[in-house]
Amino acid sequence: MNDGTGRVDLAFTVQDGAPRTVRVPPGVTVFDAASWNGIAIDSTCGGHGTCHKCKVRVLPVVEEGRSPVSKPPITRHDLKTFSREQLDDGWRLACLVNATRDLAVDVPPLTTRPKAATVGVGRQVILRPAIQKRYVELDEPSLTDQRTDLDRLLQAIDDLEPVPDLHLLRRLPTVLRAADFKVTAVVVDEALIDVEPGDTTKTQYAIAFDLGTTTVVATLLDVATGTPVAVASMLNRQQPFGGDVITRISATMMDPEALGRLQRAAAETLSTLALQVCTEGDVDPAHVYEVAIAGNATMTALLLGIDPEPLGVAPFIMSSPQPPDLLASELGLALHPRARATLFPALGAYVGGDIVAGMLASGMDRDKRTRLFIDVGTNCEIVLSDGDRILSTAAPAGPAFEGGAIRCGMRAADGAIEVVKLADDVELGVIGDVEPRGLCGSGLVDAVAELVKVGLLDASGRYVADDVAKEVAPALADRLTSLTSDRGEERIFVLHRPAPDAEPEDCVVLTQRDVRELQFAKAAISTGWTLLLEELRLEHRDVQQVLLAGSFGSYLSAASAVRIGLVPTLPVLRIVAAGNVAGEGAKMALLSIRERAGARALLEEVTYVELSDRAEFNDRFVDQLGF
Ligand code: FES
Repeated sequence: MNDGTGRVDLAFTVQDGAPRTVRVPPGVTVFDAASWNGIAIDSTCGGHGTCHKCKVRVLPVVEEGRSPVSKPPITRHDLKTFSREQLDDGWRLACLVNATRDLAVDVPPLTTRPKAATVGVGRQVILRPAIQKRYVELDEPSLTDQRTDLDRLLQAIDDLEPVPDLHLLRRLPTVLRAADFKVTAVVVDEALIDVEPGDTTKTQYAIAFDLGTTTVVATLLDVATGTPVAVASMLNRQQPFGGDVITRISATMMDPEALGRLQRAAAETLSTLALQVCTEGDVDPAHVYEVAIAGNATMTALLLGIDPEPLGVAPFIMSSPQPPDLLASELGLALHPRARATLFPALGAYVGGDIVAGMLASGMDRDKRTRLFIDVGTNCEIVLSDGDRILSTAAPAGPAFEGGAIRCGMRAADGAIEVVKLADDVELGVIGDVEPRGLCGSGLVDAVAELVKVGLLDASGRYVADDVAKEVAPALADRLTSLTSDRGEERIFVLHRPAPDAEPEDCVVLTQRDVRELQFAKAAISTGWTLLLEELRLEHRDVQQVLLAGSFGSYLSAASAVRIGLVPTLPVLRIVAAGNVAGEGAKMALLSIRERAGARALLEEVTYVELSDRAEFNDRFVDQLGF
């Protein structure tokens, strides 16, 4: 029953599998509910009501003492598919039954084995891409068979009901005749975009883009098998305009030409990567029929040439939550001329399409566990779900994690210290196994956590006095010293000396001010999840899993994150690196139109919580500053 949580229960019985009960928002079709949860139901039309294959037996669950409720309504497609007896018995087409109350669903064994792929955080996705190809051998027209070319083709692919576009109509007569009427129809979503000579069903490609502010990653996917063919990444070409979204928004406010230049820079980045993955995967770009792009709200606006200024100033308004679908060529991508581009929707100016993609990849809306998703970065996005409600917020963490505002901070590149262990000596893990040059975000968190552990930093985040240092960590005490710079004199801890007699200014050090920067960043983040936990009346221990996402979060040491209070106090096994979830979400959207619909449904399911206007924000922030 719809029990006030806004969900209904569907109890699936599957042959050769354990029974599964899934909770979904009311109104979702039985087919979608199954598909979202990795339960396979026969289908070739992907839930469009045209293939008549998704047969299931659906019975309403009747609570004890209540009168029986009627079976789901019978549609005209059900009438065409089932006998009267079967209909009375509860047989329906799963994609036409809306789950408005609790249901028991019997799923018969599959007649065709759907392919599935594991993507995201252990998500099993049943392949049903928007790209569909059908190879057909058509009868040649004659005086007794004068069907048009288009009718001939559409009648041969009757499990789909695509709409032809002009590009197709222009090519159709020539291609049909040149290929002896043996052709492959190319359908993307509802559109019949092309007809190719011969059987090309093996070449169906799409590209998933994670359009990050710093780094952009492209994955070329074979959507017929769900296999990634090639992956490439590069720095976003918008870098010269500034390292974060705010500086890029400011650039457009100061110079009317900047928006166009930023748009071109984003398009060039995507084009370069598209070409690179196609070359590497030995795939003709003309066989790429779709791209999916997951980016934050500012990156999405800039790519589309939409003025981002309202995103950067209070009250932080997006032009639209769901960008329209468009042609990849409109973004300057030289792929199939009619290839589609789909962009992820955003929940708010600071919880963008990258986070929606991340939620999809980590199944935040499908899991009954209480889970906390944290994408750590300059702007940190936090999502909390208790299995029924999903809340999200954004916390401005500042540039500390990206190495900004930190004396020896640097990006995670060769020479960056990424792991720090303190005992009788300093043990460092350095990217590229080279001489340490600086400290990246995970190294920063490790260094502070270890200094707290050995007692060289006190709970308020201050370096202890020399005599205390000698007592608590004698082997490390001489590394605690001072440095005078244009910022004045401050206490530092020397992590790496390039030579025994090197001056402090030539060493990789952690200054008192760096520690303060990290304290502010972590307090912003932990205030965010603390307020979300309070909203759902949950304690730290109720959180069953913390997903650390993003290029920085995924590399954090769980133990260090707990020690400094960046995440709730939990056993480290409950803290999981989620990886590049935005890119994974983009892949899922390409492999399954059901998943894509799931991403759009998140706009309705997730409540955005604005923290800055909360009366208790400042008190909580101060509480969270200490270690
Ligand atoms: S999935 Fe094809 S008719 Fe239901």
